[in-house]
Amino acid sequence: MATAGSAIGLGSLWRFPYVAGENGGGAFVLLYLIFTFLIGLPVFIGELVLGRYSQKSALLSYYELSNNSSNWRILGWLNVFSCLLILSYYSVVSGWCLSYVIMSLNKFSVGRSADEIKEVFTVLYSSPGINLFWFGIFLLINMGIVFSGVRKGIEHWAKILMPGLFLSLMGLFCYAVSLPGFKDALIFTFKPDFHRLGASGILNALGMAFFTLSVGLGIIVTYGSYMKKDENIPYNGTLIAFMTVFVSLISALTIFPIVFTFGFPPEGGPGLVFQTLPVLFAKLPASILISTIFFALLFFAALTSTISLLETIVANMLDLFNMNRKTATMIAAALTFVIGIPSALSGSESLFPTWKLIYGKNFFDTVNYLTASWFMPIGGLFITIFLGWRLDKAISMREFNLGTKRRYLAIPWFFMLRWVAPVAVFIIILQETGLINLTTLFY
Ligand code: TRP
Repeated sequence: MATAGSAIGLGSLWRFPYVAGENGGGAFVLLYLIFTFLIGLPVFIGELVLGRYSQKSALLSYYELSNNSSNWRILGWLNVFSCLLILSYYSVVSGWCLSYVIMSLNKFSVGRSADEIKEVFTVLYSSPGINLFWFGIFLLINMGIVFSGVRKGIEHWAKILMPGLFLSLMGLFCYAVSLPGFKDALIFTFKPDFHRLGASGILNALGMAFFTLSVGLGIIVTYGSYMKKDENIPYNGTLIAFMTVFVSLISALTIFPIVFTFGFPPEGGPGLVFQTLPVLFAKLPASILISTIFFALLFFAALTSTISLLETIVANMLDLFNMNRKTATMIAAALTFVIGIPSALSGSESLFPTWKLIYGKNFFDTVNYLTASWFMPIGGLFITIFLGWRLDKAISMREFNLGTKRRYLAIPWFFMLRWVAPVAVFIIILQETGLINLTTLFY
């Protein structure tokens, strides 16, 4: 359940719908599903297998199991650095969730039209001080939890609040089904039209599969090291992949009906969730209550994911340097804050006003795109190379088979890990560089 808590977060609820919208819908969603099960899941299982076998976190697993090769240690460093970058902008979004809790209590959506509600987000996004404030508060909360150890408080609440989030999402989904735009939303989400796939659509779909599963950065290795030897890794991995995909799809199918009913553009960008759901809330009875509870739960889902990121950075620092947990946590959080400042100030363009002119995306979107679409798939590629080629095959097969009766699955899993996943990731990267063009295949 803890691993599921790390996987299910803003990636499914916030990121998936708007990136799917930006990349044209159906074709992107189809690729996302294929990549999740064909590439993401074998890597996910691979990370669990590696962690449970080594009983270590990622950096030391690569290092020690490769006879102390410093090249493999670099991979560990790349992973930690990516976690830091992701945590920095993810916490800005989590800060928005906190802001929306207070805004809900102040009845920001009551009596407002859809366009006015949409505008509220634009104002928030372009307020430098407010963004920094909530970003900082969120990091402090995160730090407080990692300080006192993840197990004590958070696990207890996660068991109550994550199902709560799931139930309220299902409730909203049922309401969204009754909207006139639901049919258009279904077509948009499920009818693949490869002409509408954005220029980087294939790579973005791959990145989304990695991001929502939290794979490619060795985080799942750490979770694997906590698993018991008789626990069934392939079963648990598959279950989590299904849960994650389900939440992503339900989230999109709740948001897009609102988009099509009220004439919003589906490519609405990072504000999409915050601009659409309050339109629904405003129409429901007890809207203040529902809106407050929903954003509080969203904040909580973000927290269970960011804890895994901060905890991974701290765990690696503890493994490597001689320092105590409190100092490591404070250094990691301070570093995250500094790196996140330009993301928090992206909407107001008060830090790097010409960033977007030069790079085509603002700072927030740049970090978001680089980490999810490049660092995670590349990290995943090296993990498949490590497991498929460097580590003794007999070890991974044995570890995979512990706790499962379906031993025949080990061979196809290893084949996917050794051949299909690395080759596919490599081809997709070639496609992105323009050396080959896969989209012509689809037409
Ligand atoms: N998977 C999480 C989500 O969908 C985000 C996340 C948590 C993550 N831990 C991660 C992403 C580690 C990459 C790496 O919201």
